[in-house]
Amino acid sequence: MKRYKDDFPILQTTVNGHPLVYLDSAATAQKPNPVIDAVAAYYRETNANPHRGNYDLSVRATEAYEQSREVIRKFIGAEKSEEIIFTRNTTESFNLLAYSYGMNFIGKGDEIVISILEHHSNLIPWQQVAKAKGATLKYLYINNEGEIPDEEIENKITEKTKLVSITHVSNVLGSISPVEKIVKKAHSVGAVVALDCAQSIPHFEIDVKKLGVDFAAFSGHKMLAPMGIGVLYGREELLDKMPPFFTGGDMIEYVYEQDFTAAPLPQKFEAGTQNVGGAVGIAAAAHYIEKIGYENIIKTETELTKYALEKLSTVPYITIYGKKNSVGRCGVISFNIKDAHPHDVASIVDAGGVAIRSGHHCAQPLLRYLGLNATCRASFYFYNTFEDVDILVENLKSVRKWLGYGA
Ligand SMILES: Cc1ncc(COP(=O)(O)O)c(C=O)c1O
Repeated sequence: MKRYKDDFPILQTTVNGHPLVYLDSAATAQKPNPVIDAVAAYYRETNANPHRGNYDLSVRATEAYEQSREVIRKFIGAEKSEEIIFTRNTTESFNLLAYSYGMNFIGKGDEIVISILEHHSNLIPWQQVAKAKGATLKYLYINNEGEIPDEEIENKITEKTKLVSITHVSNVLGSISPVEKIVKKAHSVGAVVALDCAQSIPHFEIDVKKLGVDFAAFSGHKMLAPMGIGVLYGREELLDKMPPFFTGGDMIEYVYEQDFTAAPLPQKFEAGTQNVGGAVGIAAAAHYIEKIGYENIIKTETELTKYALEKLSTVPYITIYGKKNSVGRCGVISFNIKDAHPHDVASIVDAGGVAIRSGHHCAQPLLRYLGLNATCRASFYFYNTFEDVDILVENLKSVRKWLGYGA
């Protein structure tokens, strides 16, 4: 297996006296040198407030920002750069969508459909819209493999549905949603579809046109870019009719004492000084992913996930949730150790330099549906290795002894 770790300085460090084994990429990915260098170079050479100054540096900052938008447009196969709105993260993208689209185009008696797999950021904003507008929030439920069955799509998306907002990949179970079927059914009843790509775009190609989605949201920090930069993609026709979400500087055309007119897309949705360094970072991350190639990322992660699932399955007191094989899923594995609280597990393996997540993973309705309070979660990215999996499993095997249960 090719070793990608060397591009990531943080993966060369030690934690608690052990080489860092980072298995929390679903929370945030580590950053490769080309991204770190691009952001540092921006701040060393180009930093100024974009869209404002007429002096050389400000013009170059504006160019850097707009070139990054163009990189992201191409990266996700959008038609126009006006369709790429920079936000802080997926959460902000969904709030923008809920408050600008949901609050204005969803009404009493309408239905919003999400799935039980959703992260809170694609759930609470829709609860808010449903409550404010008298709409109903409906859920697509999952089977034992953590997947959304066809019947759920057929039965729950109806003539009353105005919007379907679905996670592409579950951040708890790693399962992949049947986007094609959802889009087909939603469009057949005239509903729009928003896709939460926070856990998919780091791992496989997203082409918004091929997928046929109306909106898509993702965070830079999960795809190797800095924190504080995210994207909302929307079809121009829909974004055009949506009112601004945040208001203030830079999103206006004219301002009068009592009113204002909004700037054209995409500025209409980008109020205030923007994160140009972050935009440069997400563009550098997209280039880096293209250089590695999604086919190599998928191949590496599938092998790692297969190996990890096999190894974890051999430990009798470990329960794995969701799909037990590596086909048609991503490298997010939720599990528990008998008699051990996930927080204890995470602390104990941390002593061995292994970083895993524990808790409800911002998906409380899903955990409740699965009859769980919390799980441990190991999530892989292409920079992980078989050795990382071995060290994880070795450390997990010590947990019950640490807690006084013997083997
Ligand atoms: C599926 C999914 N959606 C949305 C989010 C929210 O991302 P952010 O915290 O970057 O807004 C996450 C983060 O874990 C996620 O996994």
